[in-house]
Formats: sequence, structure tokens, C-alpha cells
Amino acid sequence: MTKGNHIGGDNLVIEDLNFAYSNNLKIFEKLNIDVKPGEFLAVLGPSGCGKTTFLNLLAGFYQPDSGTSQLRGEAITPEDPHLGYIFQAANLFPWLNTIENVEFGLRMTGMGPEKRREIALKNLEMVGLKGFEEFLPNKLSGGMRQRASIARALCLEPHLLLMDEPFSALDEILRDKMNDELLQLWDQLGQTIVFITHSIEEAIYLSDRILVLARPPGGIYKEVINKLPRPRDLRETKSSELFWEYKKELNNLIQEVQAQAPLDESEIAELELGAKNG
Ligand SMILES: Nc1ncnc2c1ncn2[C@@H]1O[C@H](COP(=O)(O)OP(=O)(O)OP(=O)(O)O)[C@@H](O)[C@H]1O
Ligand SMILES: [Mg+2]
Repeated sequence: MTKGNHIGGDNLVIEDLNFAYSNNLKIFEKLNIDVKPGEFLAVLGPSGCGKTTFLNLLAGFYQPDSGTSQLRGEAITPEDPHLGYIFQAANLFPWLNTIENVEFGLRMTGMGPEKRREIALKNLEMVGLKGFEEFLPNKLSGGMRQRASIARALCLEPHLLLMDEPFSALDEILRDKMNDELLQLWDQLGQTIVFITHSIEEAIYLSDRILVLARPPGGIYKEVINKLPRPRDLRETKSSELFWEYKKELNNLIQEVQAQAPLDESEIAELELGAKNG
């Protein structure tokens, strides 16, 4: 059933995607993923396994070497107005104050000043930054800057929201609050969300499905379907046996990935040679 302000999500299909950086180090080999409209997908994996690279491919910032990455059946471009990207590090314009940063995307759509200020204020309040409208980014803490960048992305009501460890700079209480706000927002609007995190508990609390990425060159090491009932409440969810079963399973999977030997120099040289010859 669609609700009052329900915008819905877009489906995202990745087929046989291969990607290497220009130094020929392969990050993904034959990656296949199908994200359903309105699905909340979480992605876990040790540092350097390719999570941000994966998100940049989804956003169309990087082009795959082969294979396809499509949104609503079309190739993805970063200019897509229905795409929202929240970066690992907040990237606010230093010369604009908080509210000017937050309403920037709306300004680009040609929306009038009153309406965009109203929307920006609503989203600033949502992320707990009411009262900081006039502050320049260098007068905000790291966590506050990150919250402002989240408010900026949410203003555009994206159908596909790509989030790269969005709450990692926040303290635990604020992080829990932001997780609940995100779940509420998702419940109302029904966007498709791809959410990268290092926190296993956060991934379980939020998502419908969790992907664990392998070390490069790889792709998905394993996926876990999250059957915890919704709507979720943090305390209740954490008191369920299933939550702790998932936590144990994911912990083990991540340890397995960590134990996969990183590529040594001779393997990298071999890959580079293979790429040159093939
Ligand atoms: N622009 C680049 N050029 C070449 N190699 C890169 C580039 N960006 C990332 N890499 C390499 O690609 C691999 C994956 O990097 P990526 O940033 O996607 O990892 P990550 O999983 O997001 O890590 P973290 O959890 O630390 O954010 C790493 O080995 C990294 O060194
Ligand atoms: Mg990253």
C-alpha cells in the first residue's frame, strides 16, 4: 500500500560487472546483484575490500570495464535527480553556511527560496542541527558536518539512497537515533537504500539483506537474508535470539574474509601482466 508521501524506490541491477583501477588492480570480477525497489541492502566487509568503489560504481561515478549497472533499466549517471549519495566524509562547500549547503541541491532544481528553506529546515531539524543554520562548516564538529550532508541528500527525496558509512563519526546515542530516523523515513518514503557500514549490529538492525564483500578481486563473499520482523525497535530487536544468531554468523563471515590472504606483490604483478596481455 502506498502512503501519503510515498515516493517508492528504483530497482538496481548489476550484471557481470568487472572493474579495475587504472593500475590494473582488479576490484570486482563478474559481480551480479539485484536490488529490489524499496529494498534496504546493507554492505559489510573489511577495510579496503571495495565497499566505496562498489558505491561509486552504483552512482555512475566510475564506469565498469565490462558488464552493466542499471537503474530502472537504464545506465546510471551521477546527475540522476533520483539518486542521493552520502559520502564517507562529509563534503560541504566551506564557503556556504549550513542551511545554504543543505538547500544547495534544491537550488539547483530551480526551486524558489522560501520553499527550499522550508524543506532544508525540516531536514536540518531531523538530523538535530536546528539552531546551526548560519554556521560555516569549519565551525561544526565532524559528526555535525556529516549530519548536514545527510540532510542535504534527503532534501531531494531520492528514490535510490547510497550511503557510505554515514553514521560512523557519530557517538552511539546519536547513531541509534539516526538509525531510527532513517528507518522511519524509509518506511514513509520507501526508497531503495544501499548502506555501507563497519557495524554488524547496525547492518542487522536496519536492513532486509546483508552482503559481505570478499577481498579483491572478488565480489560478494556471502549474503544473509535478514528476517527480523518490522517495524523494529532497537531494544526489542536486540533482545531477540535471531539478532544474535545473525551477529555471530556475520562475525564469522567477516573473520573468514579477513583471513583471506591479501594479494602479495607477485600476485599483483601477475594480474597486471594478465590485464596487459588480455
Ligand atoms: N582511486 C583509486 N585508485 C587506485 N586504487 C584505489 C582507488 N581507490 C581505492 N583504491 C583501492 O581499491 C581498494 C578498495 O578501496 P575502497 O575505498 O573501495 O575500500 P573500502 O572497502 O571502502 O575501505 P574502507 O572500509 O576503508 O572505506 C583498496 O585496495 C584501495 O587501495
Ligand atoms: Mg570506504
